[in-house]
Amino acid sequence: MASASHLFSPSSMGMSGSGRCWGRRRNRLIGLRCSMLEEHSAVGSSSSPKPRFPRVVGKGSKLIGCGSAVPKLSISNDDLAEIVETSDEWISVRTGIRKRRILSGDETLTDLAAEAARKALDMAKVEALDVDLILMCTSTPDDLFGTGPQVQRELGCKHALAFDITAACSGFVLGLVTATRYIKGGGFQNVLVIGADALSRYVDWSDRGTCILFGDAAGAMLVQASQEDEDGLLGFDLRTDGQGHRHLHATVKADSSKQNGAAFVPPKPSSYSCIQMNGKEVFRFAVRCVPEVIEAALSDAGLSSADLNWLLLHQANQRIIDAVATRLQIQTGRVLSNLSNYGNTSAASIPLALDEAIRGGQVQQGDVIATAGFGAGLTWGAAIVKWG
Ligand code: COA
Repeated sequence: MASASHLFSPSSMGMSGSGRCWGRRRNRLIGLRCSMLEEHSAVGSSSSPKPRFPRVVGKGSKLIGCGSAVPKLSISNDDLAEIVETSDEWISVRTGIRKRRILSGDETLTDLAAEAARKALDMAKVEALDVDLILMCTSTPDDLFGTGPQVQRELGCKHALAFDITAACSGFVLGLVTATRYIKGGGFQNVLVIGADALSRYVDWSDRGTCILFGDAAGAMLVQASQEDEDGLLGFDLRTDGQGHRHLHATVKADSSKQNGAAFVPPKPSSYSCIQMNGKEVFRFAVRCVPEVIEAALSDAGLSSADLNWLLLHQANQRIIDAVATRLQIQTGRVLSNLSNYGNTSAASIPLALDEAIRGGQVQQGDVIATAGFGAGLTWGAAIVKWG
């Protein structure tokens, strides 16, 4: 298992140079490539090969805007009881979930992500052209090569670098921490972190052990460079254990075409299996590891659970949320949850719940929130953040 609370130093990420590219030598190379591109095509051309930002090291990162979006189609537990042998009572007692949203018709994940991001930009009063980086945290992209660039296009964030982060239900926490590292070490000013997933695409709708859990959604957060004393990321801890992969995965299907030695047999196009999960093992992992990683992040921040205004966990199962809150001695009134309405929306669940709590007036400016993601990989992590 690797712990990474301090692994993202500017030098370890190759960000010792200036500007929004990564390092002086790389800047020169990228600048050269950009100008070559400009000669050949308007698509992908940048207005200047020079970095837009001076290098600034040691800045803080403020969380100043949030937004979320969910698909139109709502599926209740009773709806699911029509297709698999289950009941509203079983699902709500074992998980706390009552309904979930599912992408349908011509809705895309890109649309959801862009809608959530637009709301975050509006709240932050940041123009699309002033966004420098878009981190699209998703494991279910619209395009195998990444959905971030499509979101960039939809938003008109022409100056932003955009790419995907794949870390399942931990994606948003990893994205948030990554955003702050780019700000601290890379001189980036405005970073959009989007958590968006459509696990409905990989659910086996005949498997009652998994299909009851998941839903689709997007949530976004605008993270902006600030003075050091206004820093909104107070502490964090991130972990991975690939040994646990077997408990939760959706793996690429092996190519069945056989090479016979004489002529090359072209492989068949790939696809992924549906979500495979050992629910009991994942439950045990979450209840054991999530309190540990939150305690490590609190220690990194020099805080204790008594200093928290809110606990906001990845929304997977209400029993997991309650067990972690009990272990950390955090009362129910300080625990954020909207799981009953949306189910487990993977990388979207934390920003979706946070957006609702902020817009609903629960979370106030200056509130300190312990947030933690956990899931496939296995990957898990916690961040202690201050809103506003
Ligand atoms: N409706 C009715 N019965 C169901 C059912 C459903 N949807 N799913 C399973 N069952 C049945 C099982 O077949 C089993 O029956 P049996 O006793 O006759 O064999 C019984 O209910 C108990 O199943 P079990 O799997 O032991 O239930 P559980 O209490 O562990 O709850 C989960 C199952 C999936 C809700 C729970 O393990 C869980 O939430 N785990 C974490 C999953 C998670 O969060 N994954 C994502 C992480 S990011």
